[in-house]
Amino acid sequence: MEKQSIKLGLMGFGTVGTGVVRIIQAHQDDLQKQTGLGIEIAKILVQDAEKSRHISSMNSLLTTDPAELLDNPDIEVIVEVIGGIHPAKEYILAALERGKHVVTANKDLMALHGAEILNKAQEKGCDVFYEASVAGGIPILRALVEGFSSDRITKMMGIVNGTTNYILSKMSQEGADYSDVLKEAQALGYAEANPTSDVEGFDAARKMAILATLGFRVPMKLEDVDVKGISSVSKEDIAYGKQLGYEIKLLGLARRDGEAIEVSVQPTMVPKSHPLASVNGVFNAVYVHGEAVGETMFYGPGAGELPTATAVVSDLVTVVKNRKLGVNGRGMVAPYKEKILKDDSEKLSKYFLRIVVTDKRGVLAQITQLLADKNISLEQVIQQPYNNGEAEIIMVTHLSAKSDMDGVIAYMEQMDIVSKIESCYRVEGGDK
Ligand code: NAP
Ligand code: HSE
Repeated sequence: MEKQSIKLGLMGFGTVGTGVVRIIQAHQDDLQKQTGLGIEIAKILVQDAEKSRHISSMNSLLTTDPAELLDNPDIEVIVEVIGGIHPAKEYILAALERGKHVVTANKDLMALHGAEILNKAQEKGCDVFYEASVAGGIPILRALVEGFSSDRITKMMGIVNGTTNYILSKMSQEGADYSDVLKEAQALGYAEANPTSDVEGFDAARKMAILATLGFRVPMKLEDVDVKGISSVSKEDIAYGKQLGYEIKLLGLARRDGEAIEVSVQPTMVPKSHPLASVNGVFNAVYVHGEAVGETMFYGPGAGELPTATAVVSDLVTVVKNRKLGVNGRGMVAPYKEKILKDDSEKLSKYFLRIVVTDKRGVLAQITQLLADKNISLEQVIQQPYNNGEAEIIMVTHLSAKSDMDGVIAYMEQMDIVSKIESCYRVEGGDK
């Protein structure tokens, strides 16, 4: 007799796991109509089976023994929403080894060990989907793999970390200091007690490695991503940025010129007229430019119980549909292009530079001469008095090579007339 439902093992019953249960329960009818099968949660793996849960009707399904999911032949799909590398990686590989399909929201794991997991899935003819791992509720991975399959993507720019976007938005709106806003974000539960992964850009870097791999069809690794976080962004930088027409965003950039690629995450000045500049609070957005389609932008909640769970359950629907069609294991396109990374002389950007100099005759001329000697041309300059016989110079350059800008900064650090290099940010999203 044909099966009426497919059984799944849920690993993790925290924020996302709870959302997955809620959506499966609330949308069961729709899910069944779309797939032809019901989705039945057979077991739920947790760390502490005694903990009180938001959904008590599931208590009889809780277990702390992974074997009750992995060794149950009736369970065909594992949804991993435990997070972290271990034991999530071992559980996913064990599930694939036993021929079970996997849906995960785990960006840490997919950014670091995605290739190994996808190879194992291919070997076993299983699906592995991870839509929720990047930008939570925004279906960006499916868009890259399926929607853009006919195009060649040249550029992706992402605000893919809600915590840092909340902090930078608040700093911009209220003229507040980084440390005060971070404390407030922690008190409100937007930032974690240990915020390093978010504020130093590592979370966004993992997401950009995943986006670049799928968008460019190239096997990007986490170490290919240049990362700088927001902990040194000051309210003065934000105020000067505004004066010159920019907002500062922690921007992930993945750009392809010819076959050469660069991927980075860093605080970036974005023109106020660019749609990314208006993405505020915990929201995420991914801008994608394709050779044929031109500019597109995806916007929505990057985290949270139900938004993230919608992405998980939509992956689940794909697994069930694939099963009906007998095409499991053939969904995700493996990277098939050679990885060619740009060197620093090929990474072109405009730059915002803020320095403090001695306020005397000829200093501005020396600075502009240095920039000219290093091939850097200026677009905008502001100079104003600083403290005690010093002046502050704020500049925006025309397109410059990263290697040239690094050379300028190294030289300025040795100059007697330069007392401080306050900040240097990439400028993206303008005409190029
Ligand atoms: P969470 O609230 O901390 O929940 C984690 C769950 O996993 C808990 O139920 C916990 O059990 C269980 N668990 C932890 N370690 C375990 C172990 N060793 N063995 C068995 N169970 C274990 O985490 P979350 O926020 O739902 O995040 C889950 C995943 O989704 C992560 O990969 C995260 O990066 C990703 N994600 C989350 C969001 C979001 O908005 N939260 C957005 C996008 C992606 P107990 O309940 O017994 O403690
Ligand atoms: N810490 C992440 C963020 C959660 O702030 O966006 C979603 O991955």
